[in-house]
Amino acid sequence: MQDRKLPMSEPRPSHSEEPPEFDTAFRRELRDLMRWRRDVRHFRSDSVDRALVMACLEEACKGPSVGNSQPWRFVFVDTPDARAKVKANFESANADALASYHGEKAERYARLKLSGLDIAPVQIAVFAELDGAEGDGLGARTMPETKAYSVVAAIQCLWLLLRAEGLGLGWVSILEPERLSADLAAEPGWRFVGYLCIGWPTEAQERPELEREGWQARLPLEHFVKEV
Ligand SMILES: Cc1cc2nc3c(=O)[nH]c(=O)nc-3n(C[C@H](O)[C@H](O)[C@H](O)COP(=O)(O)O)c2cc1C
Repeated sequence: MQDRKLPMSEPRPSHSEEPPEFDTAFRRELRDLMRWRRDVRHFRSDSVDRALVMACLEEACKGPSVGNSQPWRFVFVDTPDARAKVKANFESANADALASYHGEKAERYARLKLSGLDIAPVQIAVFAELDGAEGDGLGARTMPETKAYSVVAAIQCLWLLLRAEGLGLGWVSILEPERLSADLAAEPGWRFVGYLCIGWPTEAQERPELEREGWQARLPLEHFVKEV
């Protein structure tokens, strides 16, 4: 994959601009972006310009959020000490997960690579601010979990933005969330949502790794849709 020009160095559109027309070529490329986004666990060791990640993060923060509360909080995990704590947390949670499977399934689980923690040059713990005043509770009264859903929406935007730059993102959830929050000194009221490993992928893939490894295939649209 080629390292691309920093989006921050590209001319920024002004707000007075006419709304864009998304043409057929763009729609095709958008579908390609969806198809070629992958959860990545195999990274090259080359560094990633922090400015490129920040530029993508800035755009991802334009994602939807309940009451426009923008509850996403990002903690860059840079120090060897903090990374070692996350790695130990993952290893313990992964050992527990492995113990919950038996026989052939356990053997298959043990063979999977389920994080790029050992190599990803950029690592971000993502939290949802549950007690923030922003949005004044709109939309979240009966469903407080919508704050966390909003953070997931931003992560999905980030996933696609990074992929468009040739960068890969791997989501790690095999972690004990309270231990992680304490180890990373998360603020009170922050709920852990996901741990993101970001870097240049070793290869581009059209099919999910878990499908290629025979763990879980993609399902057809009919499986997801019901009409009432
Ligand atoms: C909420 C969430 C948590 C995930 N946690 C992990 C994880 O801990 N380890 C892992 O290898 N993949 C994790 N993934 C990635 C999924 O395994 C991956 O999205 C799925 O297999 C489909 O592959 P694709 O993203 O390449 O299409 C997670 C994905 C999501 C959305």
